Amino acid sequence: MKGMFDRANRKIEYLRISITDRCNLRCVYCMPEDGVVFTGHEEILSYEEVLRVVNVTTRMGISKVRLTGGEPLVRKGVAGLIREIAAIPGIEDLSLTTNGMLLGKMAAELWDAGLRRINISLDSLNPDTFRDLTRGAELSTVLDGIAIAETMGFGPIKINVVAIRGLNDSEIEDFARLTLDKPYHVRFIEFMPIGARALWDDTKVVPTQEVKDRVAALGGLTPVKARELAGPATLFRLPGAQGIVGFISPVSDHFCGVCNRLRLTADGKLRPCLFSESEIDLKTPMRAGCDDAELDRLFSVALSVKPEGHGMADGVKKKYHRTMSKIGG
Ligand code: GTP
Ligand code: 5AD
Ligand code: SF4
Repeated sequence: MKGMFDRANRKIEYLRISITDRCNLRCVYCMPEDGVVFTGHEEILSYEEVLRVVNVTTRMGISKVRLTGGEPLVRKGVAGLIREIAAIPGIEDLSLTTNGMLLGKMAAELWDAGLRRINISLDSLNPDTFRDLTRGAELSTVLDGIAIAETMGFGPIKINVVAIRGLNDSEIEDFARLTLDKPYHVRFIEFMPIGARALWDDTKVVPTQEVKDRVAALGGLTPVKARELAGPATLFRLPGAQGIVGFISPVSDHFCGVCNRLRLTADGKLRPCLFSESEIDLKTPMRAGCDDAELDRLFSVALSVKPEGHGMADGVKKKYHRTMSKIGG
């Protein structure tokens, strides 16, 4: 069998790489108000080290890579990294998750480097709510960035909306309506108990079923088949819409059974599951001069400890050691 399989026989083909834990925003559900202590520059994997990991893992079966953060666009030289990853044989899908603040400025160089698709985290279409949620950012900066990326040819442009009761749940229909005239994929994500935990409690989670009922009330939803290598979203279309509405339901219907991913944290740890604290250090052996066979072995260890399901319910009680910006959203 080609490819990497974990102990639950899931084919692991997707590597999410956090290239920095820094961010130019302070979203209320992600970061504490006074920020977090960022990892020192020398503790973060260099681009050479990231490329080495990508090279080794594509030979083992990874074909999809996503750059995340923190905010990946704040790290200098990211376009150069993209250019090099895009050129690695075996990479079939390369994308980036961003908050969109720097997209307007950087869309052209990202396109030129070979990036063709992006996911944007955007939780409100109302400038005041957006400012509150992000602790001060301007909505127009992100919307302008999306418009520029669209003109450039990026597609599909995916917009991730974390639905939080009392904060942005009144905007569900507005977000869904965006897909009528634009070819965007608007994906509603259930609020998970990770990040700035002070805000999370189960009353704030808007279950997918509720979001879906409200969106369906706009005229009905027709299922859309996901592409190969797709993420965990289930997809639908409103009648006559150009774009797609998606639902990501980590809380109500966890998708662990079809999980196809590993994460690489900015400080060089392989993290087999978002919700499991176990991490396999790649940075120390790489800096000690290990060969590629040793990296292969460490990858196999990560596969062997990837949990079959997450203990998100425990997470409600447990305090996660790292925030989403440190693990890589
Ligand atoms: P594509 O569909 O391929 O574009 O990517 P994706 O949906 O995998 O990537 P994206 O970064 O847009 O992720 C969407 C959201 O899904 C994230 O922001 C998280 O909230 C959630 N998510 C991503 N990966 C995981 C995971 O491994 N476990 C859980 N529980 N949630 C995840
Ligand atoms: N629940 C769901 N999604 C989250 N993200 C960050 N924290 C959470 C959470 N607690 C998402 C962001 C972005 C990506 C980086 O992770 O909205 O899409
Ligand atoms: Fe930054 Fe994303 Fe966290 Fe917002 S959710 S603070 S944009 S890492």
